[in-house]
Amino acid sequence: MSGLAFLYRAGRLYAEGVSVERLAEIYGTPLYVYSRREIGARYRALARAMAPVRPLICYSVKANSNLAVLGALREEGAGFDIVSGGELYRVRRAGADPARVVFAGVGKTEEEIDYALREGILFFTVESEPEARRISARAVALGCRARVAFRVNPGVNPRTHRYITTGQRENKFGLDPDRALAAYEMAAQLPNIEIAGLHMHIGSQILSPRPYVQALARAAVLCAQLRRRHAAFEWLDIGGGMGIDYMPDQEPLAPRVFAAAVLPWLKKIGLRVILEPGRSLVGPAGLLVCRVQYVKDSYRKKFVIADAGMNDLIRPALYEAHHEVWPVRRTARRIRGDLVGPICESGDFIALDRELPAVREGDLLAVMNAGAYGFSMASNYNSRRRPAEVMVDGACHRLIRARESWADLVRGEDAGARHENRRKEQPDHV
Ligand SMILES: Cc1ncc(COP(=O)(O)O)c(C=O)c1O
Repeated sequence: MSGLAFLYRAGRLYAEGVSVERLAEIYGTPLYVYSRREIGARYRALARAMAPVRPLICYSVKANSNLAVLGALREEGAGFDIVSGGELYRVRRAGADPARVVFAGVGKTEEEIDYALREGILFFTVESEPEARRISARAVALGCRARVAFRVNPGVNPRTHRYITTGQRENKFGLDPDRALAAYEMAAQLPNIEIAGLHMHIGSQILSPRPYVQALARAAVLCAQLRRRHAAFEWLDIGGGMGIDYMPDQEPLAPRVFAAAVLPWLKKIGLRVILEPGRSLVGPAGLLVCRVQYVKDSYRKKFVIADAGMNDLIRPALYEAHHEVWPVRRTARRIRGDLVGPICESGDFIALDRELPAVREGDLLAVMNAGAYGFSMASNYNSRRRPAEVMVDGACHRLIRARESWADLVRGEDAGARHENRRKEQPDHV
């Protein structure tokens, strides 16, 4: 695995300068642990590799939206790629400059559009003609101008899991290039709209630079045409999607490999560049610590049952994703089996039919590469409390999100007047 955030010292797993065992003792499990240094190093490596086009790197908030993670990336110089009013609220709380925020997503509501217009974001990534009309109408109502970039679906195959491709013809995202020119013409006629650029995002966990080059080759022609027609057309946003090494034998899409392939095209196209990386900045900077509850044998199969499940990390269940599982106390002994969670679903697993560290009840395991699409996709399914999150920086560690309480689980719910007095019967310790 790339990165130096998580290493063994004297047989114990460390997050930077802090033992993971100690973190589990202090904060409990399941626990997300992030490395501040790794996040910074990853941001800077990308910024350095892409320096010849001086891109605006808009971190994709959906990957991990904790305020401390957003704050760390803002300190490094990042802007933000958001997909909801909630994400806009988060980045503003983290101190982001709205002029460095781009807003994507196929289903923006009027409320979200108004919020973004009032805040003065850089531009909206527009996914359809009706959305352009809605943004125009809201800009008129609020008496401001809205900058837009249509999301164009270049129809390339990024060779990734089918659930995380977004630039193929059958995906719901963006417009096909044949339709795009007409959409731009239509939008340019709308009141209070400024055509700011073009956006594409072809998928996620992409390990080769080739699909980006194919997409850029297609976008180049379109950009040249659009630039001639629209005076304010200045941005080319090429999205995110750079892949990481979830498997030990995988080669991540390194910033310098990515840059070597895309820079010639970006220079030729000559527009201001935006990148929207998510996973590649925070994925390897996080792990999920869980504690083994039981080890059981059934039908000649071994099950290691941990206190983290699909509600904490849904990627294995949702995308058949692979996460390496490391023992927090190093051991050479191995068992073969499934690492599963406590949720009442057969799909509740972290690792299936795998060589796992030989663990016993009470041992700690670390699920690696869990910094992206981990906590941000966590849920309360089975009425489980979402886990705590901790940021490590050198020898320091800080709780950046408290574990939910049982009271958090029912916040905002109303059992109805008939049940009101039952509240008093609840035990104090919840
Ligand atoms: C529009 C857009 N930009 C950026 C990203 C971030 O992708 P990744 O985390 O793979 O870099 C996504 C992910 O879905 C996206 O939809």
